[in-house]
Amino acid sequence: MSNESPKTFHVKNYGCQMNVYDGERMAEMFAARGMEASDKEDADLVILNTCHIREKAAEKVYSEIGRLRRDDGSSPMIAVAGCVAQAEGGEISRRAREVDIVVGPQAYHKLPDMVDAVAKGESSVDLDLPGLDKFAALPKRRKTGPTAFLTVQEGCDKFCTYCVVPYTRGAEISRPFAELVDEAKALVDAGAKEITLLGQNVNAWGDGDQDLGTLIRALDKIDGLHRIRYTTSHPNDMTDGLIAAHAEVEKLMPYLHLPVQAGNDRILKAMNRSHSRDSYLRIIEKVRAARPDIALSGDFIVGFPGETDAEFEDTLSIVRETVYSYAYSFKYSPRPGTPAATMDGQVAPEVADERLQRLQALISEQQAAFNQGTLGKRTSVLLEKPGRLEGQLIGKSPWLQSVHILAPGLSIGDIVEVDIVEAGPLSLKGEMLMKVAA
Ligand code: 5AD
Ligand code: SF4
Repeated sequence: MSNESPKTFHVKNYGCQMNVYDGERMAEMFAARGMEASDKEDADLVILNTCHIREKAAEKVYSEIGRLRRDDGSSPMIAVAGCVAQAEGGEISRRAREVDIVVGPQAYHKLPDMVDAVAKGESSVDLDLPGLDKFAALPKRRKTGPTAFLTVQEGCDKFCTYCVVPYTRGAEISRPFAELVDEAKALVDAGAKEITLLGQNVNAWGDGDQDLGTLIRALDKIDGLHRIRYTTSHPNDMTDGLIAAHAEVEKLMPYLHLPVQAGNDRILKAMNRSHSRDSYLRIIEKVRAARPDIALSGDFIVGFPGETDAEFEDTLSIVRETVYSYAYSFKYSPRPGTPAATMDGQVAPEVADERLQRLQALISEQQAAFNQGTLGKRTSVLLEKPGRLEGQLIGKSPWLQSVHILAPGLSIGDIVEVDIVEAGPLSLKGEMLMKVAA
């Protein structure tokens, strides 16, 4: 327990892009108070922005807390934020006395006040799920790289039986249209060329009769914004308006992350996914008709309780039928408090491991083939970071592939037109033609 007002801070993020967004906003709040960002090792205040989606998330947090203890036995002021904080609550400060603050994902705008309380010798826990309060309380966006995240929607009402999100992030809630357009403009003024709209169910975003397609069309009009993306979507919220935006809005990148989780209808039903194998495939067909070159990605869970070998084969076959540019796949992990955690037929870890390996091999094959398919294409790349070689920069293609470019006079944030001259399984090489935007 530390009783001095901290002057430096460090935010350590785990998990999803939503947490990256939240972590950036926390940093902005502390910077607005005149505090300085620093390394984890010597920060006066360390915020662990935790994730609870899979595996021993809570255990990881406890061991990280242990590692924060300094040689002289003291600890920095420690705040546990994010989804583990929401799920574990006050239990965290009981198990780890070093923890001063426990704050859930909807209450982190109160962190500065909580830090003040701790400096006065109090401990502080806030696990309210008040919805949109935090956004109004956060400072205006002033700092960003060329690619920025913008949370438009949070929470989930879908209650898939394996998933902890409805419990940690609360009910589905959308931020108002005007506030989002303002935040997007502030991000572009601060240098963002690309904005990724975020939400646990981003395509369920709505404000009155406006849906995500309408919001994308509004952002399309912002000068200086070149690229728009969104993630993560649910098949049931893939409206015709949003699909049409993929055909009509040039700034909307040809990429869609649309998780199906499994390919077998009995498993989908047990997961409470509310879509079937066929209805998913029909949506994919519509999306491809609107935007033939679209890159598709997805999430898969193997070893869901009761999954048989034959049912797992259906997951492999839906991957073959859909054809992804990339996909994330996970071994089912029982989350305390979710319905699936107590279902019969929990799958043996060795069986799940073997299924995961087979699925990942297929996905890697598809990723390599997708990359190979872009060889010889002329396309744009937004440069995001330096490469390993002198004068090399790495950026993203419209299809979210990493592209390495070696050319003089380029800077991070430039958008360049390139010819794709090499395609590896994981990344591409581009030959610079001209700068499109700086
Ligand atoms: N076990 C394994 N994977 C999970 N996911 C969510 N909950 C679990 C779980 N209990 C995966 C889903 C989701 C992604 C974010 O994480 O595939 O789409
Ligand atoms: Fe993890 Fe999900 Fe929470 Fe993101 S929303 S931090 S993925 S549990």
